[in-house]
Amino acid sequence: MTEKDILFNNPQQVVDFAFDDAVADVFPDMIRRSVPGYETVISLLGVLAEQYAQPNTKVYDLGCSLGVATLSMHRQTRTLGLKHICVDNSEAMVKRCTSRLKRHMPDADLTVLCDNIEDIEINNASLVVVNFTLQFLAPESRLSLLKNIYNGLLPNGALVLSEKLIFEDDAENQSQIKWHHAFKSANGYSDLEISQKRVAIENVMIPDSVETHQLRVQQAGFKESYQWFQAFNFASLIAIKSST
Ligand SMILES: C[S@@+](CC[C@H](N)C(=O)[O-])C[C@H]1O[C@@H](n2cnc3c(N)ncnc32)[C@H](O)[C@@H]1O
Repeated sequence: MTEKDILFNNPQQVVDFAFDDAVADVFPDMIRRSVPGYETVISLLGVLAEQYAQPNTKVYDLGCSLGVATLSMHRQTRTLGLKHICVDNSEAMVKRCTSRLKRHMPDADLTVLCDNIEDIEINNASLVVVNFTLQFLAPESRLSLLKNIYNGLLPNGALVLSEKLIFEDDAENQSQIKWHHAFKSANGYSDLEISQKRVAIENVMIPDSVETHQLRVQQAGFKESYQWFQAFNFASLIAIKSST
């Protein structure tokens, strides 16, 4: 059973957030109560996977955490010969991801790598998912990852990129932050938990605006991209590599 996230419920000397064992143990509860629309995104990733996965190709899940996106994509695709490649640089996540996915998709062709997503080779890919992870890379490294993804995708392949957003209009930005705070309160987090988590994460997670993401995917080479999902300040884009 999933443990409840109480990591920030006592007053503490807050240190930078890390995806360590303590976080990995409570991660399903933490992300469900912190990211509006998370479960919907996960479920709809499976629908998108069935649209874009091509036979005998690779599907990458970059920053896979516990592998929930991969499991959803595996369960909702009938495409033959798919190789699932999950990558995360947290040993705590990779250990749990490997045992969960081996249990829940025993017949799948699955590789789980403990590595930096900036260092891996991407090839023969029909779908690459970067679900709430690009925001943890240094902003100046983000374009080079997207270029690597673009180059590793086959024609008609897709990148799905989900992220927390900031908004260029200050009034909207403030409202979205307020609504996100209200979402977390409604899910049982106290004001102390919310503010301590914010301090822990503000140096390690740097969100961009949707305009920045759109520009960056175009700079990476994608000519076609759409925002297909938004819940408050969390959104998901899809970028499709053209057939020629
Ligand atoms: C918010 S979680 C992603 C959630 C996951 N994609 C899902 O859908 O459940 C971010 C993950 O990215 C991983 N991560 C952050 N930076 C990374 C990097 N440079 N290389 C590999 N993994 C990274 C973290 O360890 C963490 O597990």
